[in-house]
Amino acid sequence: MTSSIFSSAYRWTAVFLLLTGLSCLFSPAVMVKHENFKRCDQAGFCKRNRQYADDAAAASNSWSAPYSLDPSSINFKDGQLSGTVLKTLKEGEEKVKLPLTVTFLESGVARVTLDEEKRQMGNIVLRGESKARKERYNEAGKWALVGGLEVSTGAALSEKAEQGYMKVFYGEGGKHEAVIQYQPFGIEFKRDGETHIKFNERGLLNVEHWRQKIEKLVEGKKEGEEEKKEEEKREEEPEGEDESTWWDESFGGNTDTKPRGPEAIALDISFPGYEHVFGIPEHATRLSLKSTRGGEGCYNEPYRLYNADVFEYELDSPMTLYGSIPFMQAHRKGSTVGIFWLNGAETWIDVIKTKHTANPLSMGVKGHTDTQTHWISESGLLDVFVFLGPNPQDLARQYGELTGYTAMPQSFAIAYHQCRWNYVTDDDVKDVDRRFDKFNIPYDVIWLDIEYTHEKKYFTWDPLTFANPIKMQKQLDKRERKLVAIIDPHIKNTDNYPVIDEMKKKGLAVKNKDGNDYEGWCWPGSSMWIDCFNPAAMSWWKGLFKYDSFKGTAPNTFIWNDMNEPSVFNGPETTMPKDNLHHDNWEHRDVHNINGMTFHNATYQALIERKKGENRRPFVLTRSFYSGSQRSTAMWTGDNLAEWSHLEASIPMVLNQGISGFPFAGADVGGFFGNPSKELLTRWYQAGIYYPFFRGHAHIDTRRREPYVPGSPYTEIITKALRLRYSLLPAWYTAFHEAHTTGAPIVRPNFYVHPDDELGFAVDDQLYIGSTGLLAKPVTKEGADSVSIYIADDQPYYDYFDYTIYQGAGHHTIAAPLEKIPLLMQGGHIIPRRDRPRRSSGLMIYDPFTLVVVLNKDGSAEGSIYLDDGETFDYQMNAYIHRRFFFDGQRQIMTSTNLNKGRITVKLESYLKAMEKVRVEKIIIVGVPKEWKHKHEVMVAQEGAKESKRRRKAPIEFVEGTGKSANWAVVRDPKISISKGWKIDFATKDEDDHHGHAH
Ligand code: NOJ
Repeated sequence: MTSSIFSSAYRWTAVFLLLTGLSCLFSPAVMVKHENFKRCDQAGFCKRNRQYADDAAAASNSWSAPYSLDPSSINFKDGQLSGTVLKTLKEGEEKVKLPLTVTFLESGVARVTLDEEKRQMGNIVLRGESKARKERYNEAGKWALVGGLEVSTGAALSEKAEQGYMKVFYGEGGKHEAVIQYQPFGIEFKRDGETHIKFNERGLLNVEHWRQKIEKLVEGKKEGEEEKKEEEKREEEPEGEDESTWWDESFGGNTDTKPRGPEAIALDISFPGYEHVFGIPEHATRLSLKSTRGGEGCYNEPYRLYNADVFEYELDSPMTLYGSIPFMQAHRKGSTVGIFWLNGAETWIDVIKTKHTANPLSMGVKGHTDTQTHWISESGLLDVFVFLGPNPQDLARQYGELTGYTAMPQSFAIAYHQCRWNYVTDDDVKDVDRRFDKFNIPYDVIWLDIEYTHEKKYFTWDPLTFANPIKMQKQLDKRERKLVAIIDPHIKNTDNYPVIDEMKKKGLAVKNKDGNDYEGWCWPGSSMWIDCFNPAAMSWWKGLFKYDSFKGTAPNTFIWNDMNEPSVFNGPETTMPKDNLHHDNWEHRDVHNINGMTFHNATYQALIERKKGENRRPFVLTRSFYSGSQRSTAMWTGDNLAEWSHLEASIPMVLNQGISGFPFAGADVGGFFGNPSKELLTRWYQAGIYYPFFRGHAHIDTRRREPYVPGSPYTEIITKALRLRYSLLPAWYTAFHEAHTTGAPIVRPNFYVHPDDELGFAVDDQLYIGSTGLLAKPVTKEGADSVSIYIADDQPYYDYFDYTIYQGAGHHTIAAPLEKIPLLMQGGHIIPRRDRPRRSSGLMIYDPFTLVVVLNKDGSAEGSIYLDDGETFDYQMNAYIHRRFFFDGQRQIMTSTNLNKGRITVKLESYLKAMEKVRVEKIIIVGVPKEWKHKHEVMVAQEGAKESKRRRKAPIEFVEGTGKSANWAVVRDPKISISKGWKIDFATKDEDDHHGHAH
C-alpha cells in the first residue's frame, strides 16, 4: 500500500480546523505558515515563465519560439560545439546574442550552456548604486563539480550535410546522438537511434536578457521625483509586456532591489515515453514525482528549490525545504536517463505527465505516458548536463563523477547518534552516557545543541553548565564514544566576542546591497553571517577549530552545521535578502542554494586541518545542501513532527536522497516537534535503523525520550532494533564503500534494484540495504500488526529472523507485532555481520564475523565485505580488506577472494597484521536442501596455512525448517580469517550421493 496519509493530510487539517473552531480544548494545529513562503505567482520570474508556458500552449501550433541557432556561427572542435543562439525581439529590434556551447564528455554525458553576450562582456548598466557583478553567475561548477569533465575525443559530426539541423555522435561506440535544430533552437538526445530527452520541444526556452529600465518621466514634474512619476506612468501604460515583476519586488515587507532587472532562464525538457521522474530533493513528497499543473491527485505549484528553514513543514507538498539537488532522472523499463541543472539560484520545476492510451485500431500499439518538465531559475547561466544511462547504476556513477561520491565516513558515524535540544550540562551528558550503559543499549555519539555555548557565541562553552567539557569527553572516550557540537553560520553581533570582532575587521561577513556588513536576526539575536564563498573566510574559519582556539574540544569532538540555508529569522522567507552581496560581489540571488554547502565545506576543511597530525576523517552534519555536499557531510531532513505521517514520509525522502547522489541521510528519529507515543517512538527506531544517518533528536520543549525512557517492553524492543543495526554494521559499511566508489545509493528503492519491474517503479515505502539483498519494510502505521511487502522477482526471500520463505512476485503479508521488524533476505546474497553485543561500534573492531549465506533458487549466493580502520585516510593507501564471498551451488563450494587490487603498501601490511586474528566465527547457510541433513562436516582450506593445516575438517549442523520456514545449516568456528583467501567444500564425500540444488 502506498497511498493514504499523504493525500489525506489536507482533509485532516480541514477537519482539525473545524474542531478547533468548536472547542479550544484541542492543542493547536502545527502547520507551515504558507504566507511566509512564496508561491510561483509571487515570484515574478516564476510567474512570468509559467505564463509564457500558458501562452505557448494557448497559441499551440501558431507558437513560434523566438530562439534560433545562427548556422554561420557554429564551430565544432575537439568534442565541443559552439555557436550563437539569437533571441528575436520585436520587429526591427536588434537580436540578443546568446553564446552556446554543447560539450560532449568522455563519460557519454553532454553539457549544454547558454550565456548572454552583453553580460559576458560586462556591457550593462546596473540600477541604483549597486556594486553587483554584471555577468551571469558562472561559478556554480566551481563549487559543485569535481571531475568527469574530460572532453570526448571520439565525438563526431555526422558526415551527411543536413538541412536545418546537425548531428553529433558521441558516447561509447557513438551510441549517443545529439540532434541540434537551428530554428527554433532545440536539441534531441538519442541513444541507439531513439529519442530520450528533448530540449525546447514546447518552445519554452526563455533567457530574460538584460535591458535598461526606461524611466518614463511624466511631463511637468520636477527632477527628483522620478520614482513617483515612474510608478504613475506604469499604471497608465498597460500595453506591451507586463513589467510589473521586472524591477523591484516586494514580499512580506521586504523589497528586493533587483539591480539587474529580470534575468531568469527557463527551458522545457521532455522525456518521451517516461512515466516516472525521480529526484530534485528536497521535498516532502513521494519518490515518483507528481504532476504540478493541477488535476486530481496532482499539485498546483511547481517543485521549488530555494533552501529555506521551513517551520513545521507539511507533507505531500512541492514546497521548498532546506536543501537542493537539481538532478532529475526519468525511468522506464529498459532505460534510465536524466539531467542535472547546474544553477545555484531559486529554481522552480513544473512536471506534466501526458497519458496516451493504446490505439484500439492499431493492434499492438501500447499506451504510454510522456513526462515534460519546465525548469525556471531566477538568474545565472543555463548549464545542463544530459545523462543517457541506460540504467540507474550508470546515472549514479556519471552524476557522481561530476559532483563527487559520498565521503567514506568514520565507522562511528554510521552507528547510532543520540541528540536532543539540549543536554543541559556536562553532568547531564555523563548521566545519559551512563544510563545507556546501565541498560546495555549501544550508542556511539552524543550531541550538543546550541545551549552548550555561552550566550549563543559559537566556539565558547557556557561556564556554568559546561564547566569541564574535556572531562566529559574523556568519559565518552572510555567506550570509544564521540561528541558532536553544533556550530552555526550566524555570528553573534556583540561586544567582547573576538570571533565577531575578527570577522568584521577582516571583512569576512556577507554584505548587504550597499556593501556594508549585513545584520540580521537568529538564535543569538543580532548576528552577521560568515561568507564562505570568500577563500579568506574559509582559511579564517579553519583557524577557529584548532584545539587551542576552540578550547574544550578533544579529538573525539565533531561538528554539526545547522541553519546554513541561511536561516535569518527576520529575513524574507526566513533567509537573506537576494540583493545581499557575497565575495567578488556576486549577489546572494545567484548563489543562494549553494550557500549552505560553502559553509559545511569550510567546516569539513577545518576539521581536516585540526586533525592533520591525527589523519582522521571529519564528521560534519549539515541541514542545507547542494549537489556536491555528499563529498563532505551527512544530512538530515530537518524539523519533522512526532507524527506517524512524518515517520512514513521519511522513507521516500531518504530514498530520494540516495538516488540523488547524497545518500548519507536520515530523519530525526522520534520526530523533532512534539512528543511521540511509546508505540510511535518504538516504530521510529525500528525504521530509523535503516536510515544511513541514524540519529534520535528532539525539540527543547519535548520530554526526554532516550531509548531507556519508555520502559518495558518498549526499551527492550528499541534495544533489539539498535542491536540489529550494530550487528549489520559490516554490511552498512560495505554499502557506504560502494557509494563512495560508484555513487550507488546506500538504501535503494525498488526501481533501482529491479529496473525492469514496472509494477514496482513507484514503490517507495520499503528499501534494500546496499547490495546485501536485505529488504526492509518499516511499520509506519499506528496499531499495525502486519505489513504488506512488495517482492519484485521470483527469488526466494527469507525472513531475517526465522527464515520463513516468501516467494513469488507481488505483495506478501508479514506479521509485524510491535516487537517484530519486517526484514527479508533476498536469495542469492551473502551478508556479513557481527553478532556480539557491544556498547559502541568502536568496541567491535576486532570482533569476529558471521556470514549469512542466503541461497537463491539455483542454490548459489554471493556477497562482499569492505573493512578498513574506520578512522583514518589510510584506506587511500590501500590499507583495507575487500573480499568477495561466493557460494557455488553447482560445486557446493564457498570461497573468499581478494577484491583489493591495490599495491601492497606499508599501511596495508600493518592493517592486515592488526586484523590477522579476526575470524569468521560462524557461517549460516539459509535455504539448504533437506539432503544436507546427512552432512556432518565440511573441508576447509585457507591460503598461507602450513601444509599440514591446509585442509581441515569443520563440523556442520543441519536444522530442519518447520512449516513455512527454510532449512538451514551452520558451520561453527571454521577457523578462517576475514582477511584471507579460503575455500570451504560442502560436497564432502559421505553424502556425495545426495548432492543437489537447494530447491
Ligand atoms: C534547528 C534544527 O533543525 C534543529 O535540529 C535544532 O535543534 C535547532 N535548530 C536548534 O539548534
